This record gives sequence, C-alpha cells and structure tokens, in this order.
Amino acid sequence: MRIKSIIYTLLLLPLLAVASCSSSNNSPNQLSGKSVKSPNGNIELTFALTDNGRPTYEMSYKGKAVVLPSHLGLILAKDKHASRGDAETDLMEHFTIKSQETSTFDETWEPVWGETKTIRNHYNELAVTLEQDTARTIVIRFRVYDDGIGFRYEFPQQKDLNYFLIQEEMTEFAMAGNHTAWWLPGDYDTQEQETQQTKLSEIRGRMKEAVNWGNSSVAVFSETGVQTSLQMKSSDGLYINIHEAACADYATMHLELVDGKTKALTTQLGGGSNAYTPNPKGSSYPLPKPYTFVSHLTPDATGLKGAMQTPCATPWRTVMVSDDARDMLSSNLILNLNEPCALDDTSWIHPTKYCGVWWEMIVGRGSWHYTNDFPSIHLDQIDWTKVTPNSTHKANNENVKRYIDFAAKNGLDEVLVEGWNVGWEDWANMWKRDVFDFVTPYPDFDIKALNDYAHSKGVKLLMHHETSSSTQNYERHMEKAFQLMNQYGYDAVKTGYVGDIIPRGDHHYSQSMNNHYLYVVKEAAKHHIMVNAHEATRPTGLCRTYPNLVGNESARGTEYEAFGGSRPDHTCILPFTRLQGGPMDYTPGIFVTKLSEWSNNDSWARITLAGSLALYLTMYSPLQMAADLPENYEKFDDAFQFIRDVACDWDESIYLEAEPADYITVARKAKGTNNWFIGGKCDENGHKSTITLDFLDNGRQYECTIYADAKDAHYEKNPQAYTISKKMVKKGDVLKLKEAPGGGFAISLMAK
Ligand code: NOJ
Ligand code: CA
Repeated sequence: MRIKSIIYTLLLLPLLAVASCSSSNNSPNQLSGKSVKSPNGNIELTFALTDNGRPTYEMSYKGKAVVLPSHLGLILAKDKHASRGDAETDLMEHFTIKSQETSTFDETWEPVWGETKTIRNHYNELAVTLEQDTARTIVIRFRVYDDGIGFRYEFPQQKDLNYFLIQEEMTEFAMAGNHTAWWLPGDYDTQEQETQQTKLSEIRGRMKEAVNWGNSSVAVFSETGVQTSLQMKSSDGLYINIHEAACADYATMHLELVDGKTKALTTQLGGGSNAYTPNPKGSSYPLPKPYTFVSHLTPDATGLKGAMQTPCATPWRTVMVSDDARDMLSSNLILNLNEPCALDDTSWIHPTKYCGVWWEMIVGRGSWHYTNDFPSIHLDQIDWTKVTPNSTHKANNENVKRYIDFAAKNGLDEVLVEGWNVGWEDWANMWKRDVFDFVTPYPDFDIKALNDYAHSKGVKLLMHHETSSSTQNYERHMEKAFQLMNQYGYDAVKTGYVGDIIPRGDHHYSQSMNNHYLYVVKEAAKHHIMVNAHEATRPTGLCRTYPNLVGNESARGTEYEAFGGSRPDHTCILPFTRLQGGPMDYTPGIFVTKLSEWSNNDSWARITLAGSLALYLTMYSPLQMAADLPENYEKFDDAFQFIRDVACDWDESIYLEAEPADYITVARKAKGTNNWFIGGKCDENGHKSTITLDFLDNGRQYECTIYADAKDAHYEKNPQAYTISKKMVKKGDVLKLKEAPGGGFAISLMAK
C-alpha cells in the first residue's frame, strides 16, 4: 500500500479545564465540554465529564442530534488469582481530565483490492487523557470524519493497570428517537438470520420470531439485544449506522437496547463461572434512558468478556451518519480506522472469480462424505482404501475435472472443492475434537493429478478447511495443511466454523475466537494463502491490515436459498449492514432458482435471473463465486456472458441510488481499464431506475449490453424471464430500466 500524501498537523492545545456539565450523574443532558467538528463541519462531537467524573460524549449532524449525551466506561471483574488490591475498580467514574489534544490527519492510500483505487482518510481527532481517583490513566480517542465518528479506549501501561479483566464494556449510544432499525438478534454464535425491520420500540416484541433456533449454533442473550453493523433511519431522514472497526484481541460487540420495559441490563448480571468474581458494583449503575443502546461484549467459556494486558486498546466504536443513504454504502470509515497493511509483499493476493463442487451438496443431490459404512469414525482407525464408496460423493476426480473444464472455458480463476478430505462421515455437531486432519484426501480425489490438470488449463483449485469449530484441532494441523497447499499450488482457502465451538462453552465471537481467526489469517499470509472464513465473526475492516483476508461469510448467504429461502429484500439490506466491515462471500449467481427442477429440494431462491447478475456489483467482494451448476449455466449461456465479463476489482465506484431494504444501484469502473459495469437490485416491490451516464469518458464510445428483467419477470412466478439488448452509448446518455419484483439488472459498458 502506497501512501500518496500525508499532511499531519498536530495542534497541541493548552490543557483545558472543561466546564462541568449541568446534568445529573446518570442521565447527562446537554454537554458543555470540548467539541471537534468533521473536516466539512457537518458532524460535531462533544466530550465532557459529568459531575461525578463519568466520561460522556454526544454527536450531531448538520445541527441534528445523532447520539444524545451518552456515557463511556468499562466494568472490570475481579480475577480470582488477583492480589492486586482494588485494581479491579471499574473504569466508569471519578475521572478528571488530564489533557485534551486535537489534531488533523489527511492521507490518501491505495488498497490492495477494493471498490476504489484510492481512499482518502481525513479526520479531526480529539484525544482525552483521563485520570481516575485510583491514579489509573486511560485515553479516549475520537476521530471525526465527514461520514461519521470512531472512538476507542486506550489503556497505557502503568503501575496500577497491567492486567485486567473486562466484565462488560458500558459504551452507550443514546438515540434521539424511535428510529426504524434493520437488525439481527444479538447472538454470540451466529449472524445467519433474516434481518428484522422494526421501530426500536418494537425490537422486544419481535425477538422471539426473529430467532431461527434451527441454526447449528445459536446463543441469543437478551430480548432487546441486536448485532452490529446496525442500520437505522430516523423519522426526519437521517441514516445512522453503528458498528466497530479493527476488532483484534477483543470480543465482538453487540448492543443491548434499553426500552420502556428494561429493568436491568444483561450486562450487569455477571458471569457464571468461578474464574472471576463479578464486580458487585456492576449492577449499581442506573439505567440510561429508553432508546439507548449499551455495548454488550461476547463472553468466553468463563463468562468473561476480555482479559487485557496494557498497553492495549479496544476496537473503534463507529457511528456513521448522513441524510443520503448512498453515503452509507460509499463510506470508508471502517477501513480508515484500521491499521495500514502489515504485509510487505502483497503481489500474491488477487481478486478471484470461482465456481465449485459445492451447490449440489448444499442442495442435497450429493454428499461431502465418501462412505456410509460406519455410524461414526475414528480418523486414525480407518483404511480408506477398504471402505465402500457411497456413490454420492461429489469431490471425485471425474466431477472435479468437469468443474475445472467449465472454469477454464469461462475464464474463472479457481475451483472450490468441498468434501475432498477424510472426516465428513460424522463432521457436524458431535462435539468431536479430532474431526479432520486437513491433509488426507479421500481415495477418489487425486490431489496431485487434479491440481496438475487444473494448472495445465490455467485454473487453480481452492482449498476447503471445514473445522467443525474444533479450533484446537485446526490450530494443531494448520501448518501441515498450509504446507500441503503450497506443495500442490493452492493459494486460497475457504475455512468454516459450523457448530458450537470446541473447546466447549466458548463462543464464535469471543476474544479467544477472534484471536483464532486472526491467527489463521496471519499464518496463512506466511504461506501466501488468501483466506475466506465462513461462520467466523463478522468483519471490522481488518482486511485493510491483512488483505489476504479476502472474504467472510458471517451472514445469511446464498446457501439459505436451499434451506427455505431468504426474503427478496435480503440483498438490499446486507450492503448497509454486514458489508460495512468487509466483503462477503455471498456465493451469488443462482440461475435455476426452483431447485426441484434438478433435485429433490423444494426450496427456491427468491430472485430473478437478472437480479442474480446484479449481485456481482451490488454485493462488493474481490472474491466472487458463480455458484450454480455448470449444466445450469450452459442452459443460459447468453446471460452467463455477464459473469464471464464482470470484474471483481475496481478503480471507481459510484452509488447511484440506494434505500435500505428497497433498492441499490451502483456503477463501477473495472481496475486498470476504461470499462464500466452497472448493477441494480431491488426488493419484492420492483423498482424503476433512470441512469445518466455522466461518469463515462468524454468523447469515448462504449458497447453497452443490458441484462434486464423481462416485462413479465417475477422472482416467484417467472424468474428466468430476461432480455439482453445491445447498443452503443456515450457520456451523458440516459438509460431507463425496470426491475421486476425481486429482480434487478446488470449492464456492461465496454470502452471502444
Ligand atoms: C457452511 C458453509 O457456509 C458452507 O458454504 C459449507 O459448504 C458448509 N458449511 C460445509 O463446510
Ligand atoms: Ca454458513
């Protein structure tokens, strides 16, 4: 990553005595503290202390309240081994301001891959150093951008704060009204639920039906708990998004809403183990007022939320805001708050289009496992050459070759093969520790011959490591598994964390698991391997620092179209929520949406064929799958041309239209070319778009191919009705498009 320009001005202000607040201790009203504005002046952030020294902030946009005065702080637990006196006293109150420093930062950097060639990182900063009456010092650092704010707690190393345990982080986000929210039930283990759209006051009433308990690992914590990234809209048209950036060595943050019925926060109940003693003071902090979200961290197996060693910092807590929904999608706030690239050499990291031996197993026509001989297996006790093959195993030489041929013919870079390695006979939800070894292929998968065959055709195989959430098992085998990949020429791995975490009791989004996911990414980088992690924690922009993290699932992906389906507006929500922290391996491209046409599965994808093409643009990712079967694509080869043509790395992206859960239209310029692609996706109501091609080059002609829903297309009744039309266009021309219910369009503009 090359930093193009840096202007760094540090204005050390004289130590300021901040006027004390006029508010009561527990419900801060208007603050009178130190304020910082965004570079364009639209956003204002104010920090102050309440009378009893509780840190407090508020935020406004164009003069409108976005976050009302809200407390900051952490409740610490008492370590049972501690002999550190009162070192566990909460970091909540009795602070005074030691210093406040403001500064300005403005740089433009180049991501290794992304939606744009360059990204401007421009903010004004306020760093407040606070001293508690316990003599402990913390820093709260705010960065104020034109599109939102980020702030974090920093803990310098000091005599009385070296090791500490977090019982709960108590960051408040007091909303100014009963906003509409697009939310997922707060859960320590899964994000694979349908998004709910309700007023804040309706979250509690909707919670029960919002949870699909059939998921392989579910741990909901509160009737008003929700996940981030949380998208909201106020009644006066402000789009507000709460998330986090750079979550490393820390637990994933959820939000618990205080509503009219809240009696106590679940955050204040303490943990249920003997590893530490909950701080009795934890439940003594009065509740904030209704419509306030309070951070709720994911616990580990002991119930603890974090074990910290100074110097250290929390992730950035982020609040994005705009009166234009498109700004939510073009914002780079999360990436900008992450550290620059940590890898010296990134030449081996590349955008990837792939297909895979996958959908036919998900749909149920084939199996990952090789034999039906045993009720359960012990990996070290089976001679695989002697077992009876089941004839449903899809990762076999012949089938894999078929996919390699398809990829080679259509210019796809890689072929994912799942079910290639021994252990799938009893892989899921058995609490089984030694579930896979990640190096032993089934007898019908010739790892050398298949890789050689793929390479001879200019294609690579994409590795699959399902861990079954047995994380110690994976860490034990990982080095050998990566060596095997290097030996045969794999450069990307899809990992997976299906089921409850082993060691038992831990959760997918705890501090320890977040450390595991990052460990995998860092070890993979040493082997020049790109990582696409499924079921891992939802991303927080760490792909800026480790760009070999090219994808995550961490939401309800296309696989759910085979498990009963997702609502047609699902993909018009995800870019506002899940995609804020990084790209999603959504695995789009289902052309034959009624699965019963080729399998015994009655489920169907709620999308038109043209809508499926649009997802390659509206769901940004440097890793894009063409998920349907080769034979299904062959039936619609004229439409498949778009998947052959579309890029997955961009110099420029312009969001033309957007409204959460309704529609998204984006134009993107393919990296290193003059070609543009435009995609539009809408919900079940259909949508009309008028696009003025004012972003094209002056004086240049473009061959424009439009893949659109036919007049009578409909995601349920007529999903495969599409039209393809071609014409020459130039800058300033206007295109009118009609999207069917659950549909969309895709356009390629090839420069002449
Ligand atoms: C769940 C993943 O999301 C899916 O893509 C994968 O095929 C299965 N786990 C098996 O690993
Ligand atoms: Ca999944």
